[in-house]
Amino acid sequence: MKLIEKIADLREEIKRFKREGKIIGFVPTMGYFHEGHLSLMDIARKRSDVLVVSIFVNPIQFGPNEDYNRYPRDLKRDLKLAEERGVDIVFHPDNREMYQENFQTYVNVEKLTKGMCGKYRPGHFRGVTTVVAKLFNIVQPDIAVFGQKDVQQAIVIKRMVGDLNFPVEIVVGPVIREHDGLAMSSRNTYLNDEERKQAPMIYKALKVAREKVKMGNRDAAKLKEIIESTIATAPLARIEYVEIVDDENLEPVSEVKPGTLAAVAVWFGKTRLIDNIYLMER
Ligand code: PAF
Repeated sequence: MKLIEKIADLREEIKRFKREGKIIGFVPTMGYFHEGHLSLMDIARKRSDVLVVSIFVNPIQFGPNEDYNRYPRDLKRDLKLAEERGVDIVFHPDNREMYQENFQTYVNVEKLTKGMCGKYRPGHFRGVTTVVAKLFNIVQPDIAVFGQKDVQQAIVIKRMVGDLNFPVEIVVGPVIREHDGLAMSSRNTYLNDEERKQAPMIYKALKVAREKVKMGNRDAAKLKEIIESTIATAPLARIEYVEIVDDENLEPVSEVKPGTLAAVAVWFGKTRLIDNIYLMER
């Protein structure tokens, strides 16, 4: 496995692989790997000849009062895990390599970024789409894999790829959960013992709603209420949003139908957790 820090060096490698007709798989990450990241690498590994993983904590997708500085980082551990998972190249640029002085070009997906996380994290998705567009231009992958846990991000990226004609297939890997149902996230490491104990209530609430749908309840307002009241049984939980939306346009729905998702953001202390579930599969 190679560790590459410079764009020019990665381009050289990619050029060679492209000449040889190799299929390039790509998993963009901010590092601090857990089984969620590694499962995305497994998916990409199966679909490609060369697997590239980027590790870059992208400053422009964090708001001024967010956790950019304290975001967990452990390159040495990440490199070991990536190698074990069969990664060929880890691309680990620094901020100066990615954002040269006077950087001023951004990619913005307009409508899909207005609601849900976009409402509470202004500028976040603009930072994500900009860095992902840059990474796609640098890595030139044939397929790229993103996680369903960040469902709005995955949908926004698919839109960007369609709208800007990036020649890459976007694959979405399932949410990977801890044994008690908590969706895996690098941010789970911020939780103290009591917060960690209560955080699985998020997934419990989503499952309760899905059960209600199976029993015939299609009323989105009622289901939203059920999710909110179930999460509220965890005393430390502070709900930011609960949304029942269509998985293509992310617009709220009034009745559950195929493709309806329940998506939530909940704070436990200083930690913001997100999760989602299909109330009805497409
Ligand atoms: O999901 C993430 O880790 C990040 O948002 C991404 C896609 C790597 C862009 O920085």
